[in-house]
Amino acid sequence: MKRDLVSITDVKDDLLDIINLGIEIKKNPRKYMHVLEGKSLAMIFEKPSTRTRTSFEVAMTQLGGHALYMSPRDMQLGRGETIEDTAKVLSRYVDAIVYRAFDHRMVVALAKNSTVPVINALDDVEHPAQIIADLMTILEKKGRLKGLKISFIGDGNNVANSLMLGSAIVGADFYIASPRGYEIKEEYVKIARSIAGNRSRIVLTNDPVEAAKDADVIYTDVWVSMGEEEEREKRERDFKDYQVNLSLVKHAKKDYIFMHCLPAHRGLEVTGDVIDSPNSVVFDEAENRLHAQKALLVKFIS
Ligand code: CP
Ligand code: NVA
Repeated sequence: MKRDLVSITDVKDDLLDIINLGIEIKKNPRKYMHVLEGKSLAMIFEKPSTRTRTSFEVAMTQLGGHALYMSPRDMQLGRGETIEDTAKVLSRYVDAIVYRAFDHRMVVALAKNSTVPVINALDDVEHPAQIIADLMTILEKKGRLKGLKISFIGDGNNVANSLMLGSAIVGADFYIASPRGYEIKEEYVKIARSIAGNRSRIVLTNDPVEAAKDADVIYTDVWVSMGEEEEREKRERDFKDYQVNLSLVKHAKKDYIFMHCLPAHRGLEVTGDVIDSPNSVVFDEAENRLHAQKALLVKFIS
């Protein structure tokens, strides 16, 4: 049976196996040089990308396979061919499809209509591939996941949704502090709480200090996600008290780590003295996109 990664909950049962395989591949990359020989990965990107595109493409090369970058501008998808037909056609050529889309429903439709695995490379609801790498990074830095306090400061967006669900899966407490009107949606909170059961807590607040207090991980993301550019001015006003700066992180544990999926905007969601501090792991986190995605591709394709 083919598997898809539309939501991080699609790997609920083997998330830790994937993370541990990522750690193993990172240590022994040469052992995996040929595992995807002759395999091809199509990568459709409706939005810009630096990390996701590069790490998936390099991952395929280093596993012995091949990746094709496809912009809808250059595909018939951009001229009205349906996502369903695109799924059926690409399934005849390639062994998996990575898709970054504006609309989550498009990723669902692609997955439903392809006979090969579909991996969500970010949409308006989730960013699951990011969160696998993030949890791998936290495990490497902290030696455990269960029982940690993972705190997200900012917008209840795609990254926040997947991080909340991922935290619930691994048994970490998840706190999110957002301004009023930008909270994570109740429907995703419900799913996270049902996964967490009584193993861990999912806490929504409007108070950044409550979230930051004694946190093991402080995570933030942009205030203006791709596709929201026309809301920039309003969002920058609404989020101004939710900046991750030195006065906020002093509430976290002394050995807290700072994370950001990147790209970051110094002086907005995070100050330079936090993102460039010794507590910041953002570049190890970015590197782990490569190793974690290799694990995902090995699990899903071979
Ligand atoms: N974090 C992340 O997904 O970055 P890109 O938009 O550069 O792929
Ligand atoms: N929330 C951001 C993440 C970028 C990787 C966005 O969707 O633009």
